[in-house]
Amino acid sequence: KGVGIIGVPFEKGQKKYGVSVAPAAMRSAGLIEHLKEIDGLNVVDYGDIETVSSKQSVAVNNMSHLPTVSACNEQLSERVSQVLRDGRIAVTIGGDHSIGVGTVDGHYKVNEDMILIWVDAHADINTNKTSESGSVHGMPVALLVKELSDYWPYLPTMDWQVPKFSIKNLGYVGLRSVDKYERLVIEKYNVPTFAMEDIEEFGIKNSINHILQTLDPCLNKPIHVSFDIDSLDALEAPSTGTPVRGGLTLREAINLMEIIYSTGRLRAIDLVEINPALGNDSDRKRTIEAGLAVLRAGLGFSRKGTAPRGILDL
Ligand code: ARG
Ligand code: MN
Ligand code: MN
Ligand code: MN
Repeated sequence: KGVGIIGVPFEKGQKKYGVSVAPAAMRSAGLIEHLKEIDGLNVVDYGDIETVSSKQSVAVNNMSHLPTVSACNEQLSERVSQVLRDGRIAVTIGGDHSIGVGTVDGHYKVNEDMILIWVDAHADINTNKTSESGSVHGMPVALLVKELSDYWPYLPTMDWQVPKFSIKNLGYVGLRSVDKYERLVIEKYNVPTFAMEDIEEFGIKNSINHILQTLDPCLNKPIHVSFDIDSLDALEAPSTGTPVRGGLTLREAINLMEIIYSTGRLRAIDLVEINPALGNDSDRKRTIEAGLAVLRAGLGFSRKGTAPRGILDL
C-alpha cells in the first residue's frame, strides 16, 4: 500500500492571498509523519509543483489568470499520472480548487474508467459565461467534462487538456452554495448529488453509498475524491476563502472518507482551499488538523486503533 504526496502552492484560481501556503503549512504540521503513522502505509513525497506566473498575455473574458492556471495544471497532470503509474495513491495538497483540472486530467490519462466524487460546498461547474466571479476555482468541473466542452470558447494555452471525462461519472457531496446555471447543469445531466439537505435526510453513509452504487454498479472502478475543505462547516474549517455555514461535521467527513477507503478502490485524493493566512492561530490549526484527519481517514487510519501486528499469534 503506497501513497505519493504532491504539493501545489497555487492560488491564482481565486483572489485571496494565502491558499498557496497550504502545502508548506501542512508539511510543517507533520503531514508526512502523520501519514507514515498509518499501519502499513508507504509514503513518498513527490515534492511541490513549481508554480510560475505565465508571461503569456492572452486574455479570456471573465477568466482570471488562465495562462498561469493552465501552466500549473499541465505540470500537475503529468505528476499525478506519474504517481499513479508508480502504483501509488495520488494525494495532492492544494492550492485552490482550480488544480482539480490537473489532478483529474492526470488521473483520467491513467484510469479512463475513473469516477469522481466532488466534496464541496460549491459545485465548481461554472463556465466563464455563467461565473459571477471570473475565478477559475469555480470552473474546474466544467473544464473537465466533455459534455460541456461546446459551452466554452476556444481557450488559449489549454490545448494540452482535452476534456474526455464524462459527467456521467461525477457525483457531488456537501453542496450548499450552487449558482443558478450550475443547478441547471446538475439537473440536465442528472448528476447524483447529495447537497446538505439530502445528507440531513439520508445520512452521510447512505449518501456516499448511493453515489458509489449509481456511478459504479459493478463496484470495480477507480475512485478520485476531490475534497474542498469548505465542504466542512465553517466552524470546523474556518481558514478557507469561500466559507459557507451549515456544512459537514468533521465526523461526517471522516466517515465519508472511511467508507470510500474501505472500497479498496480509492486512487486519488485532492485536498484543496485550506488558506492558512485567513483567521487567527486557532482557526488555522483547526483547519489544518481537519484536513489531516480527512486525509488519514481516506488512507486507512482507523479510529478504533490498530493492534501491533502478529502479537496475538505468539
Ligand atoms: N460559485 C462561486 C464561483 O463560481 C464560488 C466557487 C468557490 N469555489 C471553490 N473552489 N471554493 O466563483
Ligand atoms: Mn502524531
Ligand atoms: Mn471547490
Ligand atoms: Mn468550495
